[in-house]
Amino acid sequence: MIFTTRAAIVASIALVAMAVGVALAATPQFDDLRNQKPIHGDAVAGATKAAPCAACHGSNGVAAAPTFPNLAGQSATYLYVQLRAFKDGSRTGAVMQPLAKALTDQDIRNLAAHFASLPARAATQKAPKSPRGSILFHDGDVAKGVPPCQGCHGVDGRGPRPDPTSTAPQPAWSTFPHLAGQNAPYLLRQLQAYRDGTRIGTSNDKVMRGVARNLSAADMRALADYASTL
Ligand code: HEC
Ligand code: HEC
Repeated sequence: MIFTTRAAIVASIALVAMAVGVALAATPQFDDLRNQKPIHGDAVAGATKAAPCAACHGSNGVAAAPTFPNLAGQSATYLYVQLRAFKDGSRTGAVMQPLAKALTDQDIRNLAAHFASLPARAATQKAPKSPRGSILFHDGDVAKGVPPCQGCHGVDGRGPRPDPTSTAPQPAWSTFPHLAGQNAPYLLRQLQAYRDGTRIGTSNDKVMRGVARNLSAADMRALADYASTL
């Protein structure tokens, strides 16, 4: 009797373990970035691997078409975590996933350092006529639950900068992207991806998902247009 009971327990444990295994296999990769340390790669080594990227992101890190992101001057740690997310499948993209899969972790560090070291593009467009994008970016819209973007992306869209007098690591900030001078069509597509739940593979995506959920289509356009002019 004892044996049967024990066997039954063992069998149920095995079944539960199998069910968990199946669930894990079916769950896409999720990256928890809360403890991500700032990364430091070798920019010179990265430059030697950057030729295949130039077709879309430009040899100077400024994109060849406005639907592609500029990489020049972006935070190295942000670029690193995005490439790693494409590699492990937590960020999807038909073009970037196979490219990132072919890179080693060291290649990714070096490429991130290379593109981060290039001078960011100065904004070329003039500020949009409507002040809506600027108001949302700097003040948010409390009634709609929209936080000010500058709180996380910096007053000038160049990311939050750690206090230069502080020696403490600031890992959470280091994974936040710069938006200044980014291409408006690319920014708009990303806001839509957060809203639609197609960019959800990291803990940082969850933050932006909460932001994008409260943005109307018109506000997304106003914000993308404004951020690209910073
Ligand atoms: C054929 C075009 C193409 C090539 C080649 C290409 N990329 Fe991309 N890349 C894209 C597109 C398109 C996206 C935006 C994907 C999306 O919409 O989510 C992107 C996104 C990225 C991002 C995320 C940027 C951000 O702001 O979140 C990084 C980092 C990146 N690419 C790095 C690279 C590197 C490094 C290479 C070379 C090894 C490379 N890419 C080659 C088209 C390309
Ligand atoms: C609480 C912090 C926070 C606030 C507030 C915030 N963001 Fe973000 N944002 C992030 C983080 C973190 C990421 C990186 C997400 C990821 O890794 O995919 C991000 C990513 C983005 C991206 C993708 C950039 C790229 O290169 O792909 C866009 C676009 C963006 N935010 C726009 C906005 C706008 C517009 C607002 C204001 C309405 C805003 N954010 C407010 C934290 C924030």
